Amino acid sequence: MRLLELNGVSKEYKRGGRVFNAVDNVNLTIAAGDFISITGRSGSGKSTLLNMAAGLLKPTKGNILFSGSDIAGYNDNDISLFRNEKIGYVPQGQSLLSNLTVIDNVCIPWFLFKREGDVEGRAFILLEKVGISHLTASYPKELSGGEMRRVAIARALINEPRILIADEPTGDLDAETTAEIMRLFSRIAEEGTAVLIVTHELDTLNYGNKTYSMDAGNLSPHAA
Ligand SMILES: Nc1ncnc2c1ncn2[C@@H]1O[C@H](COP(=O)(O)OP(=O)(O)OP(=O)(O)O)[C@@H](O)[C@H]1O
Ligand SMILES: [Mg+2]
Repeated sequence: MRLLELNGVSKEYKRGGRVFNAVDNVNLTIAAGDFISITGRSGSGKSTLLNMAAGLLKPTKGNILFSGSDIAGYNDNDISLFRNEKIGYVPQGQSLLSNLTVIDNVCIPWFLFKREGDVEGRAFILLEKVGISHLTASYPKELSGGEMRRVAIARALINEPRILIADEPTGDLDAETTAEIMRLFSRIAEEGTAVLIVTHELDTLNYGNKTYSMDAGNLSPHAA
């Protein structure tokens, strides 16, 4: 089943009198259970593409369909609700709130829209799943980079999204931790959530069922 469809999507930027397409006419279909990884050099447009797929950034050309409906037609409230309910997003770099504990960070997306239920119980299960349930009451400044990344992944899963989008979730992690996180993403995909990630490491491609590379805004299937 098709979840997200990017059709001829481009993003044009202007900088220093120069106009260029950071993302250039990209087509990509994401279905439930897919695990898609994208590699590419710094500046090739990977984050720009992910931000558009997540509804954070509007394309200058093309359209993005979620379950068949064009998200460009959503108003501000619709798009916020769409992102909050359907998309789990792990941004590039550190994104936790420093004055909140690990478990409170994980719970934030749940409280952005009024919800009922045992969110703390669910957050704890997710923290177990990412292997850091012993750090529930810690603060971000007490964690390692890899632990912070896991908190961000648990936070992205709290609302049971249809798609998990992660921008270099294994950047600057050691090989063993990278492998653990990639296995976790494989499991999440097997459970039916589509996973779309950007990664620098070519060796992580073994975990993705579909792999693409990005070059100067162009996306192409990765040569096997
Ligand atoms: N708001 C903006 N205005 C102008 N140019 C931008 C803007 N945001 C990004 N760019 C440029 O667009 C290109 C793509 O940026 P993007 O962040 O998508 O690259 P990336 O592939 O994610 O790189 P990295 O691997 O370093 O994270 C780069 O040349 C960048 O400098
Ligand atoms: Mg990037």
